Amino acid sequence: MVTKRTDRVIRTPESDIKNIREDIMVLNAKKIVNFNFASGDIDKNERSYNVTCEAQNSAFYDDHMYPPALGLPKFREKILGLIEKREGVKLNLEDIAITSGGINGLFLTSLIYVQEGDNVVLPSPYWTPVVNQIIMQGGEARTIDVDEQFDLDVDGIEKAINSKTALIIITSPGNPTGKIYSRDRIKKVQEIAKRNEVKVVYDEAYRDVVFGNEKELLPSLNDELDNGNIVIRTFSKSLSITGWRVGYLLCKDRKFLLKDLDKMLLHTQSGVSTLVQGTLARASYLEYRMERTRSAYRDKRDTLFKWISRINGVDVLNPEGGLFLFADFKKHIPENLSEQENANYIYNVLKSLKIPIFVVPGKSFGESYNNYVRMAYSVESLERLEQAGSILQEYFGKK
Ligand SMILES: Cc1ncc(COP(=O)(O)O)c(C=O)c1O
Repeated sequence: MVTKRTDRVIRTPESDIKNIREDIMVLNAKKIVNFNFASGDIDKNERSYNVTCEAQNSAFYDDHMYPPALGLPKFREKILGLIEKREGVKLNLEDIAITSGGINGLFLTSLIYVQEGDNVVLPSPYWTPVVNQIIMQGGEARTIDVDEQFDLDVDGIEKAINSKTALIIITSPGNPTGKIYSRDRIKKVQEIAKRNEVKVVYDEAYRDVVFGNEKELLPSLNDELDNGNIVIRTFSKSLSITGWRVGYLLCKDRKFLLKDLDKMLLHTQSGVSTLVQGTLARASYLEYRMERTRSAYRDKRDTLFKWISRINGVDVLNPEGGLFLFADFKKHIPENLSEQENANYIYNVLKSLKIPIFVVPGKSFGESYNNYVRMAYSVESLERLEQAGSILQEYFGKK
């Protein structure tokens, strides 16, 4: 017998990104350009990388024992110190929980808030796992397309909210667009949410990968955390440690954090690895490393954008943050293709170039984006980006 929950698992779509990654794994990495997913940017000769390895080797006794489910206090304090220094916001130990990356914070939040039959409102294109998590809870994802500048459609979001809306999820900087939603539109969404007694979840996986003036671009954390809203962040990309599986969740609603989330973290995973928490709690290089990673990503963003924006018939906006560029290839897609052929057309063309270039078809991020592809620019080197850019330009022509 298929139970309701099993049925939800069956209905949860497979990940295109994972399937493409599996295809790529059998190929020679040196002979392809892999824009498929964002793994990070790390220099193995760099001092901080070596210090990290040393720190792991000299783990303290406590680092071998179960942590408190919400995370080691010394690590939470360290993050709060960074937040105070960088954002001028003072939070308490009771406002922060350590999670296994951002994805875990998002999942546990939907587990706690989304009941069967509820809906969650979010802009499209979206980061696909968020929608899948909603499906897993038996909820409905109500996706609202962004405008031509990839900014929020505030009216659309307001209209989508009804009595069954459990959450609004805002991902900024965005994946796949790299868009930072304008502060005034985020503020409006926040007001609408408050009026409708709906919580906003801010997925800020790329909070520390912003290429402009943060103070001008980003909403203040104090505003975001109003009304028991939730902010979800991760070290995956900002420190280039996607495999460590560590992030954090901020929320001032004590019942949510200290009771519900604590319970869920305890009963599902007994907290996050103490080796990881202890190492980062002791590390003295976090800010240095974040800045270094950000500047490496900026160079890569600049290089890829330079090439893609010059290609004939391709429309693209310069990403303001994050690790991705989302480009519209509509003018290169023949008419009269079936929807499926259309969605995979550019993916297949790029895969068959003289050096195969792997991207993710735009349809993976929302049904209106069949003509787009996502490129993760965190590839191994600027030279590789230059090479990919010139191959693309040679094939499609110059503007
Ligand atoms: C928008 C967004 N949110 C959350 C995450 C979760 O990242 P992690 O679980 O590695 O911290 C990702 C990772 O790619 C992402 O792109």
